[in-house]
Amino acid sequence: MAEEEEAGASLIAELYKPPALLPIAQLRNPLLYAIETFPVTIIVGETGSGKTTQIPQFLYKAGWTNDGSQIAVTQPRRIAATSVGARVAEELGCQLGQEVGYSIRFEDVTSEKTKIKFLTDGLLLREMLVDPLLKRYSVVMVDEAHERSISSDILLSLLKKVLRARPDLRVVVSSATLDAEKFLDFFASDQGGTINMKEDYGTIVSIEGRTHPVDIFYTSSPTNNYIEQAVDTAMSIHTNESDGDILLFVTGREEIDDTIDMIADHIADLPPGSKTLQPLPLYAGLPTDQQMYVFQKPGENVRKIIVATNIAEASVTIDGIIYVIDTGYVKLRTYDPAVGIERLNVVPVSKASATQRAGRAGRTRPGKCYRMYTEAAFEALEPATFPEIQRSNLAPVVLQLMNLGIQNVIRFDYLSNPPSALVVRALDLLFSLGAVDIHGRLTKPLGARMAELPLEPMLARTLLNAPSFGCFSEMLSISAMMTLQGTAFVAHDGNQKLLEKARRRFAVKEGDHITLYNVYQAFTNPAVGKQSSQWCRENCLNYKAMLKAVSVRKQLRNYLDRMGIQENALASSDAMTRGGLDVSERVQRCLTTGFFAQAARMKSDGSFVTVGGETVLWAHPSSIFFHRNADWVIYHEIQETKGKVYIRDLTTVEADWLTEYAPEYYKVKQK
Ligand code: CDP
Ligand code: MG
Repeated sequence: MAEEEEAGASLIAELYKPPALLPIAQLRNPLLYAIETFPVTIIVGETGSGKTTQIPQFLYKAGWTNDGSQIAVTQPRRIAATSVGARVAEELGCQLGQEVGYSIRFEDVTSEKTKIKFLTDGLLLREMLVDPLLKRYSVVMVDEAHERSISSDILLSLLKKVLRARPDLRVVVSSATLDAEKFLDFFASDQGGTINMKEDYGTIVSIEGRTHPVDIFYTSSPTNNYIEQAVDTAMSIHTNESDGDILLFVTGREEIDDTIDMIADHIADLPPGSKTLQPLPLYAGLPTDQQMYVFQKPGENVRKIIVATNIAEASVTIDGIIYVIDTGYVKLRTYDPAVGIERLNVVPVSKASATQRAGRAGRTRPGKCYRMYTEAAFEALEPATFPEIQRSNLAPVVLQLMNLGIQNVIRFDYLSNPPSALVVRALDLLFSLGAVDIHGRLTKPLGARMAELPLEPMLARTLLNAPSFGCFSEMLSISAMMTLQGTAFVAHDGNQKLLEKARRRFAVKEGDHITLYNVYQAFTNPAVGKQSSQWCRENCLNYKAMLKAVSVRKQLRNYLDRMGIQENALASSDAMTRGGLDVSERVQRCLTTGFFAQAARMKSDGSFVTVGGETVLWAHPSSIFFHRNADWVIYHEIQETKGKVYIRDLTTVEADWLTEYAPEYYKVKQK
């Protein structure tokens, strides 16, 4: 007992690591010197060494914002931007949104006073539309550059251009892995690849790692149920190993829920009086109030087990982790340009990822990592994950680049070139949506407006078409609901049956979009939902998400106002019978004008096939067409899980509309 208490006390002492003790503290002066001297500084250091939270503070205190400029720190993930912003505000003793703030899509927590701004890399790209030289910033720090997110890659290319026009700008690239040379070579090279005066241009600063050894354990034979095996491992750690929290990596939200359920079952079997195990989820899009629990110290006699997606691999740091369980898989978005569909596949992690995951166990003291695969399987892993730009639907980013005045998106100075098939496919899609003309140029105003709206091109096009279909108000609400990405409904206390019942209350035969519209209407109706949390609970809705939809809708409306796009003279309610079409049909037709490229038809066995008949699709269980008949539909998202391809957010359409609104596209298809 006494021993346990002592271990607990020293653990707490180790957990509280004031910034002065972080590995980066010794590098403060060399780092400031480098940034002062060179346009580009690459900083390499293990996760947890203090790059994200300390460098912006060093710069701020050294006077980099004294002339009224700001410091931008970009993150690939929203959850990182918000949580790190909060942390730095706390360290500086200010309120979030004052000297330190964050900005993510549809959520700007900054003010006139803000000096240090955390934002997603995608959002900084958007800022370049209005401020191409990023004049308001003295320093731009591209954080987590090793993740190679599409937006941070593009940002690096654009910053390289900006530096030519703004020698005063300072670029800091931070990376958790040892690919620093590649970044520096990129900045120093001209487009032909010749490397000039690298020494004058930039420098690399490395932080000495101060991590502890991590023992790695493998399974002796391959497992066919990695979740079950991971849960068993967790329980065995909990009963046999000393204090310290557990971090368990799975691939997605559903696996997180399953894992937590299974752990909960096991906890019930623990002998009375034993130490408690507290399972906590962590994934992108987890409501902010729930994120807090993950970062909080567990109570006395409680061991936390955080069940996370690979979000916990590098961008979010949780203190107190001693044990890591790595199931060895990750959900990776890949885009198949041949059929034009995006897939979210569960694939084995790369070696770099597995190593990074294991490292999470050695931050406070020696740790242990349990891999749910064999050593031979580890050896066979790919060395690193392919950059996102080489496996994504490039339509959104190509549209952005064109709107930034980049004419030739094929010859653009990429950090890694995307396969040309991806660029060509993106241009084709943008052409069919009317954003690009036959000469490959951005159309004005349509293409430019689509780029300006913070929505993916298909949804942007749909919304811009809405006034002419007399469903502007409806499409605004639907677009806002779509940005929630399936988080509107929640099963309170895990009760799926209640959730299904609630969903049915709002459901209509036309499909999921209008169902979501009904949800929005009911929530905002002063006689029904009254925007109350109570009503949300009764209807299995996520109150915070619904409030967000209200805010997003307002912001979208402002964008359109600024473009001079408004509801037609006829208010939507008067337009109910306009052209003899009821409002549902107008919404359905309008959706077709944006999503015609994602059409499918239901077969008698309940599955769907794409227009060319290449791919078999299934309605996702969250859709009202799960176990319900339909004919032609358009869908919003496609996702492959365990070999089955699911489509989400379906609305029925008529086959004629596809050729009516996208004659060019379907002419090509029929060939
Ligand atoms: O960026 P890097 O991975 O190098 O480190 P960091 O995110 O700046 O973290 C430095 C320290 O601050 C670590 O000990 C983190 O655990 C801590 N931190 C925290 O407690 N809460 C946060 N939201 C972010 C960081
Ligand atoms: Mg960091």
